[in-house]
Amino acid sequence: MAQTIAQLYAWLIEQIAEHDRAYYLEDSPLIADAQYDALYKELLDIERQHPHLITADSPSKKVGGYSNEVFSPVKHGSPMLSLNNALTEEELIAFDKRCRDGLELDEIEYACELKYDGLAISLLYENGLLTRAATRGDGTVGENVTDNIKTIKQIPHQLTGNHPDRIEIRGEVFMTHENFKKLNEDQRNLGDKEFANPRNAAAGSLRQLDSKVTSMRSLSFYAYGIGELSPSQWLPNSHAELMSRFDAMGLPISPDRLVAKGLKHVLGFFNQIKERREQLPFDIDGVVYKVNAYYLQNQLGYVSRAPRFAIAHKFPPEEAYTKVIAIEVQVGRTGAITPVARLEPVQVGGVVLTNATLHNEDEILRKDVRVGDTVIVRRAGDVIPEVVMVLKEHRIKGAAIFQMPTHCPICQSAIEKSTGEVIARCTGGLFCGAQKLQSILHFAHRRAMNIDGLGEKIVVQLIQENIIRNPADLYRLGLSALLTLNRMGEKLASNLLQAIDSSKQASLARLIFALGIRHVGETTAKDLAKYFGSMDKFIQAKDEDLLKVRDVGPVIVESIKHFLGQSHNVEVIEQLMACGINPIEKATSDQVVADFFNKTVVLTGTLPTLSRDEAKELLELAGAKVSGSVSSKTDFILAGDQAGSKLEKAQSLGIRIIEETEFLEMLKQPN
Ligand code: IVH
Repeated sequence: MAQTIAQLYAWLIEQIAEHDRAYYLEDSPLIADAQYDALYKELLDIERQHPHLITADSPSKKVGGYSNEVFSPVKHGSPMLSLNNALTEEELIAFDKRCRDGLELDEIEYACELKYDGLAISLLYENGLLTRAATRGDGTVGENVTDNIKTIKQIPHQLTGNHPDRIEIRGEVFMTHENFKKLNEDQRNLGDKEFANPRNAAAGSLRQLDSKVTSMRSLSFYAYGIGELSPSQWLPNSHAELMSRFDAMGLPISPDRLVAKGLKHVLGFFNQIKERREQLPFDIDGVVYKVNAYYLQNQLGYVSRAPRFAIAHKFPPEEAYTKVIAIEVQVGRTGAITPVARLEPVQVGGVVLTNATLHNEDEILRKDVRVGDTVIVRRAGDVIPEVVMVLKEHRIKGAAIFQMPTHCPICQSAIEKSTGEVIARCTGGLFCGAQKLQSILHFAHRRAMNIDGLGEKIVVQLIQENIIRNPADLYRLGLSALLTLNRMGEKLASNLLQAIDSSKQASLARLIFALGIRHVGETTAKDLAKYFGSMDKFIQAKDEDLLKVRDVGPVIVESIKHFLGQSHNVEVIEQLMACGINPIEKATSDQVVADFFNKTVVLTGTLPTLSRDEAKELLELAGAKVSGSVSSKTDFILAGDQAGSKLEKAQSLGIRIIEETEFLEMLKQPN
């Protein structure tokens, strides 16, 4: 039966109401945010095209949110609104145009900040004292959560400095990744339900009836706006100034803020934050731009449920809900067996996901993932997509618990797990086709020998046809052998041979990394290359020599010994050398710069002339180790423009901060 628009509209209202209930009241959403947004957008589209259908109970007429009846109600002095979203650059351009047209200005100054993924909260301070805290609720009436809010250490009970008589601060309560992880570990140990994400965990923690429970959950807070205010003359001229006043009053504000003139700078902020998103200690789902000057904000005003002067520029979502069709195991380069969930295809951040890792047997049993389950999958940045959790409410009766196979699906050798190890391994070694394949792919990888064009499909055929068995065989490949492969033309074949030949020039560090020794990653390979200078010296190294290499401890020594103890590995190395692959690492002593030798340096912000990779390379050549996070072990910070939280942390730890010019000067200093 054909569905009428009116039926579809009614269905959408019902669906959205159900999801609102699950999200706001149960802190346990049934669908991903992006899927919810899609339903909502469909509803708005219908309302735009068929305004006569609009009903009073449409979610577009409510601000969203929910109150349950456990906490006493608080009527907000002015409604707590939401923000309109821009999901694409076009939508952002349209927003900027609307603002410019409305204000008759060529360029607008925006206050840019993060969009914290938590829950909105209102804090009322009377004569400097925190007297009431409320959730957003439905935007008009929220829940009184004062006792719980008072357990958040960052939220002052008393404002400092110049504060007005009565001020309602608005901001976001959220949970850091670290605290979220701890909370879920505790929930697991207690046999309680785990939270799907930090936002649900924060919401659940704030709605505790016993404040002692909230206090143990370690919530965080950032202020971003204002509600009631008296005297109103206290208000500064712009949002940016308000934030500085918040700071002076002892209210936490995020250091990641920028006043940007015009779209170009706004987009610069967006891209910079997007890059750093993974390193932030908490979740954000985008950034927010607000017209900075209040008189301009007032001119633009509001549309029903959101301000016209602000917009949330959202990142593509990182999570989605889907079904597990099958669970299979994959065999890695070192024989490691990784269970993988085959998924009903689902869009995550613009990519269709069909697989997600389940890591290992312990993880899969802990998360209790079974075939047929509805799961939350996550794909964040460069990280391999993973199954985050199962929605057990949706489990089909009789779904079987996962069982690790006892034999390798590729070579049928036994799968074993050494005592104390979490990873099960195929015992087939290079006899196993999967391990052979992975070790050759690793050898050819862009960051290893960098053989362009040697993809999985080609290597699979080369192994199947018994043309190659190990990496050294690559260098003995000829045109005629390659031409026997499917879909291999002369051009492709000669390009590949060319790429294989060029790879002979790879550095010693790349070659050591390419061997695929367990625990020897890129950094260790660089250190080993620098220390030993040649392959000969490396393969003859004694334990005590290896231990002199930076960051090499007994585990790595053991692994190198194990690798070199297997005759077939040494044979491959010797064959490689016989093919003319014998890089010598240049003597390093004349490059090392005393100021940086053996020092740990953290890069942050945008440098005026050097790219991140260039700066990293220079630092490493000078003998420094480049690290991603600031700690007490950091020796220097090399900071550029828009350096954020790392710089602040470094300042608080008293770490020396250098800028690019000073850095380049230091590099010129003799040893
Ligand atoms: S300003 C008038 N600034 O996003 C709207 N909101 O969809 C006032 N949020 O309910 C909101 N970070 O919970 C603002 N820097 C930020 C924000 C932010 C997160 C949340 C907030 C609000 C929702 C709007």
